[in-house]
Amino acid sequence: MMPIRLLSLVVTLGVMLFGAGCTGDGSRTSAATATDTATQSAYVGNIASGREAFTINCATCHGATGREGGVGPALTDEKARKNYDETIAWIENPLPPMPKLYPSPISRETVEDIAAYVQSI
Ligand code: HEC
Repeated sequence: MMPIRLLSLVVTLGVMLFGAGCTGDGSRTSAATATDTATQSAYVGNIASGREAFTINCATCHGATGREGGVGPALTDEKARKNYDETIAWIENPLPPMPKLYPSPISRETVEDIAAYVQSI
């Protein structure tokens, strides 16, 4: 009798652990989907295009390369404060006094280019 009870206990524990493992995988999958939806495009910003767009739209306040600062803070090591997605979100909806330049004059793709550049400095 004892060995059979022990065996069924082991099987029950095994099923519970397996079930927990599946739940974990399930939540990781939905988190990844939520991130994909939040970025809303498969486009990944181009650093060289972003540098040009930064010069036109951002340099007056953040300095010629973004490292100098000015009216706005220097963006050196910005990637330590905001990741790529957070940088996009900030450019699309900045807090004053930084002006909102999206969706006009800069498009979503330009925002992503600039975010890629800002992450690189
Ligand atoms: C009119 C001036 C001005 C322009 C133009 C401007 N910014 Fe800013 N920016 C600011 C100011 C001021 C802040 C600080 C706002 C705050 O912290 O509340 C800021 C903050 C930021 C931050 C957050 C810095 C941090 O501490 O994390 C980022 C990133 C940024 N700007 C990027 C950009 C980019 C990219 C552009 C061009 C698309 C741009 N800014 C255009 C003035 C400007």
